[in-house]
Amino acid sequence: MEKLTYTHDEASARVIASFYDSPPLAYVHSYGCQQNVNDGEKIRGVLLDIGFGLCENLEQADLILFNTCAVREHAEQRVFGNVGALKKLKEKNPRLIIGVCGCMAQQQHIVDKLRASYPYVDLVFGVDGIDRLPAMLAERLTRGKRYLENPHQRDAVVEEMPIRRDSGFRAWLPIMYGCDNFCTYCIVPYVRGRERSREPADVLAEFRSLVESGYKEITLLGQNVNSYGKGLAQPVDFSDLLNLLCTVPGEYQIRFMTSHPKDASRKLIDTIAAQDHLCKHIHLPVQSGSDRILKEMNRHYTVEQYLDLIHYAKEKIPDVTFSSDIIVGFPGETEEDFQATLDLVRKVEYMQLFTFIYSKRNGTIAAKMPDPTTHAEKAARMDRLLKTQDAVAFPKIAAMAGQTVRVLVEGAGRNAGTLNGRLDNNLVVEFPGEEDLIGHYASVHLTGARAALLVGEQAAE
Ligand code: 5AD
Ligand code: SF4
Repeated sequence: MEKLTYTHDEASARVIASFYDSPPLAYVHSYGCQQNVNDGEKIRGVLLDIGFGLCENLEQADLILFNTCAVREHAEQRVFGNVGALKKLKEKNPRLIIGVCGCMAQQQHIVDKLRASYPYVDLVFGVDGIDRLPAMLAERLTRGKRYLENPHQRDAVVEEMPIRRDSGFRAWLPIMYGCDNFCTYCIVPYVRGRERSREPADVLAEFRSLVESGYKEITLLGQNVNSYGKGLAQPVDFSDLLNLLCTVPGEYQIRFMTSHPKDASRKLIDTIAAQDHLCKHIHLPVQSGSDRILKEMNRHYTVEQYLDLIHYAKEKIPDVTFSSDIIVGFPGETEEDFQATLDLVRKVEYMQLFTFIYSKRNGTIAAKMPDPTTHAEKAARMDRLLKTQDAVAFPKIAAMAGQTVRVLVEGAGRNAGTLNGRLDNNLVVEFPGEEDLIGHYASVHLTGARAALLVGEQAAE
């Protein structure tokens, strides 16, 4: 694997500056997962590095960039809708540069569609193009022609990218890129390429600088963090990396996503149990509770193996909580398969579920599987899944009343004069408090819950 280092592109910066009387403004919007949000932060960093300013208003922008997601069809339709709405802006301001990047742009049929039907889109590049953005912009401006890159994948990791983080106290930290698992429903391996881990020393350096800058919650990112380290020269696994990061002194907590159950080990559970900095909450996407469907999904674990790990974690980590991703209506899912998913949800007692109706992704193996179940049936199953989950989680959440917990205050609550704080277990509590607490830890006495939202009041430290 090739490791590259970002370098400031002064030549392109000068070319770009020569086209504007004052520093141009960029509007960047990221769709989809945290990985993509983190890429958006790097895009902003690179743009600032070459002299752009940032704006939150489409009308003010000289450059509009949509950093897109391809994981479900709905996300793609939204992007096309939002890009379509820019046509009017471009008519008003022909100098406006419109760009589409990220996962959608890693698919040839999407690039072809943008090329043919969206003539006002000036710039298209995939997930690996961020460090080359200055050169692409300079090229677009000097040649006056659209710059549309066909999808390709670079087997490289680029270090020392400039970054403008969205938050001053919560940060995303990618430890690896890409995915090798080829779950049959998933487009990610095709758009984000093969799995590449960052060097532990590079992860540690970024982590240390985040802690030193006052970041309180750092979420390690990867499509499958449990296979971290594969392909690196030194033998290191995800638990080793967690132990290494926890040697950094400071007041912070570490989360991570996403764990693949097939690679989540007892060693990982033991590490979570042993390290105070690691949140006692595990996001372990199961996708389905039916062994038959798991096989069709190419997930490489059985329900029994999954439950085994859950039981081990419950035994080793007091008060551990779980969340999961579940796909409803995978091709060929029967009522019996779906019942098995409901059973599993009751057994694990997830605190939170992220649920998705199966979305057919062209190019994946599942896209060719017969899928006789109607959308209405799938929607009805989804409804039943959500009701089952609420019946499992709400009483557990309500039963937390009476506890005093430490929370990281994330922002204003929905009701005036309240704040939202996130517990170690990823639940949120709303409590009355002053805004200057945002970004700090607070001690909160839980008094009750409204559905999945806890309510409480500040406790004396
Ligand atoms: N349809 C529906 N959900 C999907 N996911 C991934 N691909 C699809 C798809 N084609 C879900 C999985 C994954 C989460 C990030 O998105 O549950 O864990
Ligand atoms: Fe997709 Fe499976 Fe990789 Fe997750 S692990 S990104 S679901 S292929």
